[in-house]
Amino acid sequence: MQQIIITLDGYSSCGKSTLAKRLASYFGYKFIDSGAMYRAITLYFLRNVVDWNNSEEVVEALKNIDIEFQYNPEFKQSEIFLNGENVEYVIRDLVVAEKVSEVAAVKEVREFAVALQQSYGLEKGIVMDGRDIGSTVFPDAEVKFFLEADLAVRVQRRFKELYEKNPHVTLEEVSSNLAHRDYIDSNREISPLRKPEGAIILDNTNYTKDEFFKIAVDKVKEVA
Ligand code: C5P
Repeated sequence: MQQIIITLDGYSSCGKSTLAKRLASYFGYKFIDSGAMYRAITLYFLRNVVDWNNSEEVVEALKNIDIEFQYNPEFKQSEIFLNGENVEYVIRDLVVAEKVSEVAAVKEVREFAVALQQSYGLEKGIVMDGRDIGSTVFPDAEVKFFLEADLAVRVQRRFKELYEKNPHVTLEEVSSNLAHRDYIDSNREISPLRKPEGAIILDNTNYTKDEFFKIAVDKVKEVA
C-alpha cells in the first residue's frame, strides 16, 4: 500500500481520536492528535499567565514552547510532551478544555501549530485528527473524513471519559463545554471548522466502534 495522509475532522467528541488511533495502528502509520497541540499551548499559557489577546505576549511565549510526540509502548499510544514534560493527561482537564478554543482562535497560535503539523506530514504515512486538517493543514490529503455524531451521544462519551478521572464533573459542565467549543471552533475567523472539500462523511451516532472502524478501513483501502 502506498504511504498516504489520512485526515479526520469534526466536532468535539465525535470519536475522531479513537478512530484515528486505530487506523494508524492498523496501517502502521503515525498518529498525530492536533487538538492535543492546542491543549498543550493552552496549558502553557495558563501556567505562565500569558494573555492570549495580546499578540506580542503570544509571539514571545510561543518561542518558549517545544512540542513533541513520543510513542509510549506500554500504552501503545503516542503521547504529547510540552518542553520535555509528558502532558498527555493533564491537557484533558476541563480547566484546559474551557479555554482551548479561545487560544486556538489566535492567529499566531494557529500559524505555529499548522507549521508543526505540516512538518509531521512531510513523509506521509500519517493519520491526523482535528478541526481544519483536511481543509487547511493537508488540503491535498488522499483520504479525508468528516465525522459527525448527535450532541447527546458526544456529551455522554466525553462525560464518561472525564468522569473516570474526576467524579465531581457534571453532565451539564461537559455539555456546555462541548457546545461552547463547537460554537467558537465553527465561527472563528481563521480556519473555522468546516467539512473539507472532498471529505467522506462518517456519522458515528449509531455504530459500534468496530463497525465504524471497518467502514473507515474499507474507505481507505479503496484509495490507497
Ligand atoms: O480535539 P480536541 O477536542 O482535543 O481539540 C481541542 C480544541 O483544540 C478544539 O475544541 C479546538 O478549539 C482546537 N482545535 C483546533 N484545530 C484543530 C484541532 C483542535 O482549533 N485542528
